[in-house]
Amino acid sequence: MRARIIGTGSAVPESVVTNDDLAKVVDTNDEWISSRSGIRERRIAREDNTTSLAIKAAKQAMEDAHMDSEALQMIVVATCTPDMFFPNTACQVQQALGAHNAVAFDLSAACSGFLFALSTVQAYINSGLYTNALIIGAETMSKVIDWKDRSTCVLFGDGAGAVVVKAEETGFIDMVLGSDGDGGHVLTCRTREMHNLLCEGEQEMDYLHMDGQPVFKFAVKKVPECVEQLLEKTGTDREAVDYYILHQANSRIIQSVAKRLHVPEEKFPMNLSTHGNTSAASIPILLDEMNRKGMFARGQKILMSGFGAGLTWGAALIEW
Ligand code: COA
Repeated sequence: MRARIIGTGSAVPESVVTNDDLAKVVDTNDEWISSRSGIRERRIAREDNTTSLAIKAAKQAMEDAHMDSEALQMIVVATCTPDMFFPNTACQVQQALGAHNAVAFDLSAACSGFLFALSTVQAYINSGLYTNALIIGAETMSKVIDWKDRSTCVLFGDGAGAVVVKAEETGFIDMVLGSDGDGGHVLTCRTREMHNLLCEGEQEMDYLHMDGQPVFKFAVKKVPECVEQLLEKTGTDREAVDYYILHQANSRIIQSVAKRLHVPEEKFPMNLSTHGNTSAASIPILLDEMNRKGMFARGQKILMSGFGAGLTWGAALIEW
């Protein structure tokens, strides 16, 4: 059986932070940020956090799917910015929804997280263990950003996206996933220092560190590679894909991928100019926005591809 998306939802914080707003905090300007990344503004949480955004997106997706909470069997949250070490975000979503019959766990693969979660759920559904699931990508990147580091603070935003999937004859077609721990040092963020009764000194707070150029090179190489692998594996012509929904990190990365694949840019929808890079949330937020605009029709083929810290990457082909 195949996981088919039957409902979508998303949530972003109310506060909009523009590039001009950032120029008041660090030595940057709108021209630099928008020309290098395509980002013009992002939503940054004030009252919200990863859990509250996940819950809002989940409620919308459940409503869109006309799914009763009690009927839900599984909740998987992809996040690299959970609010708590434990309980996990998914259990907090479960409580908020009253989804008492669902098993709930988090999964971490940074910006590729949503695709890793989708493929995990597909494996459960294909095995026959479960027949439906709620998959959420939720992040508050703003809390792990060093707001004094102009090379990273301009790139990220907060938000959550969710989909409800159900076991059907059509839906998920196939996927390609990959990881490379050797390259992991180019994009990192520590949780807590080892600090216990045996350790001396104060605990220091760590923030996101990124070596931008190697990450850029990794993305423009790996994404077309895994997309091509997936097209070949599934015997799909690149023209037969209606939309290529890529992780929204940088418009230059997306344009480069389109060029390398020889696919018109119009097939690569983007919302990063208003959202920035929301990590695991970026693909499901874009899916939800497109769904709400009525851009999808039954039977359309959608190829999603993500990449990020780990390093991790992946692509999944689905039929709407
Ligand atoms: N505003 C103004 N200048 C900035 C700046 C900012 N926000 N951030 C960096 N700069 C400066 C640098 O200090 C550097 O100055 P120098 O030449 O005097 O040293 C100059 O701009 C060029 O920096 P560089 O890092 O070479 O820029 P770049 O062309 O590589 O673009 C990124 C930087 C981050 C936009 C680009 O590398 C990128 O998009 N990488 C991928 C990031 C990504 O997608 N990460 C998420 C993966 S999930």
